[in-house]
Amino acid sequence: MTPITRRPSMPGGDPIGRRVQSRIYRNGALGVPMPTPRSPGALEDAARKKMSARAFAYVAGSAGAERTARANTDAFDRWEIVPRMLRDVAERDMGVDLFGRHHPTPFLLSPIGVQELAHPDADVATARAAAATGVPMIFSTQASRSMEECAAVMGEASRWFQLYWSSDDDVVVSFLERAEDCGCEALVVTLDTHVLGWRPRDLDKAFLPFAHGMGIAQYTSDPAFMRLATARAERAGPAEPRPRPTPAAIRTLLAMTRRHPGRFTDNIRSAMPQAAVETFLDVFSRSTLTWDDLDFLREHTTLPIVLKGIQDPHDAVRAVDAGMDGIVVSNHGGRQVDGAIGSLTVLPEIVARVGGAFPVLFDSGVRTGADAFKALALGATAVGIGRPYMYGLAIDGSAGVEAVVDHLAAELDLTMALAGASAIGDIDASFLRHR
Ligand SMILES: Cc1cc2nc3c(=O)[nH]c(=O)nc-3n(C[C@H](O)[C@H](O)[C@H](O)COP(=O)(O)O)c2cc1C
Repeated sequence: MTPITRRPSMPGGDPIGRRVQSRIYRNGALGVPMPTPRSPGALEDAARKKMSARAFAYVAGSAGAERTARANTDAFDRWEIVPRMLRDVAERDMGVDLFGRHHPTPFLLSPIGVQELAHPDADVATARAAAATGVPMIFSTQASRSMEECAAVMGEASRWFQLYWSSDDDVVVSFLERAEDCGCEALVVTLDTHVLGWRPRDLDKAFLPFAHGMGIAQYTSDPAFMRLATARAERAGPAEPRPRPTPAAIRTLLAMTRRHPGRFTDNIRSAMPQAAVETFLDVFSRSTLTWDDLDFLREHTTLPIVLKGIQDPHDAVRAVDAGMDGIVVSNHGGRQVDGAIGSLTVLPEIVARVGGAFPVLFDSGVRTGADAFKALALGATAVGIGRPYMYGLAIDGSAGVEAVVDHLAAELDLTMALAGASAIGDIDASFLRHR
């Protein structure tokens, strides 16, 4: 037996479930280390051991008493799969079509900000894994590495851009132009985070990554944003007398300076690193947005526009009426509103209202391939992976993200085989019972 270190190719040949299974058992027999655990709890525990306490708190934490995060996973428990027999499922196809492109699996990498909290290669490591697995990566506005850097390692692989709608129009337009220029195939506009939710784990640590200059790489690589930051730095003028800086303040300033583009020795004498952080905190988002504002995006991009954060069936209908190209049924993994409805709980009603009109994508609480099967059965067109790939990134960098995607894809494939479905289009609500 020879160890299999390369991931098995996705399409064609033996379905991925068996290939990934046999790679794991074979490598186990040969003593080849496989650091990325399969079970959701073990994955999270392994990531916790690799991350600083504040980094783990930021990723794992949710709003308030974290009831929405629990509602997300509880919602999956309330649906049960009813397997069917004797249906010739030897050939299986997990492919889906989205916005004119075929994808080998129905998974997406949901946009996740501040990936440097998990691994120094951050978004670039995730981009490599996305390209290797054929799963679209949705670049976050709050990325730790610019979209151009990520696109550069992806070849022709699929990538989308997620927008947090800045209060500055020039920054918005510039982000849209850059997303088009670096080959993004869709624009995902996240609507549920125009202010940050109340997140006790972060509040207890008094830790907001952006205030340390983390997760603002899309901004510091952006000409429109840098014009604002430069103007601010110039306005700052002679410093007002300030109290003596604390050691923590000095550490924060040094960290900001290290992360700012350019040479540290130049940055340390400049007001720019701090001006960039302060400008970001000023222009991050706008709470004044209404449905009418969507026309602005349509005027400034030719990309399909997908609204992320939809939980209300009426909002889903409004998205159709507003001429949008899709929605992501998501509650941001429970990070925004505590005590909100589980994302899977609202999916069937939303699909019933708008399912035929455009793709209904789904995330929040997907932890296993069987979870993905349930979301697909309830009408999701594709399923976003969130925290699990951040845990993979923390555990083993790009290889860890690949492993997480492979494990989910393998489990979905095996669930399809054992439940009696050969294609994603075969998976419908008749496979499920609600308890
Ligand atoms: C650490 C972290 C950062 C996130 N950053 C973003 C972001 O920048 N933009 C965005 O639209 N959603 C962001 N999300 C939400 C994810 O896209 C996704 O909706 C969520 O992770 C799904 O929940 P789950 O991870 O519990 O399955 C973030 C989630 C986490 C955990």
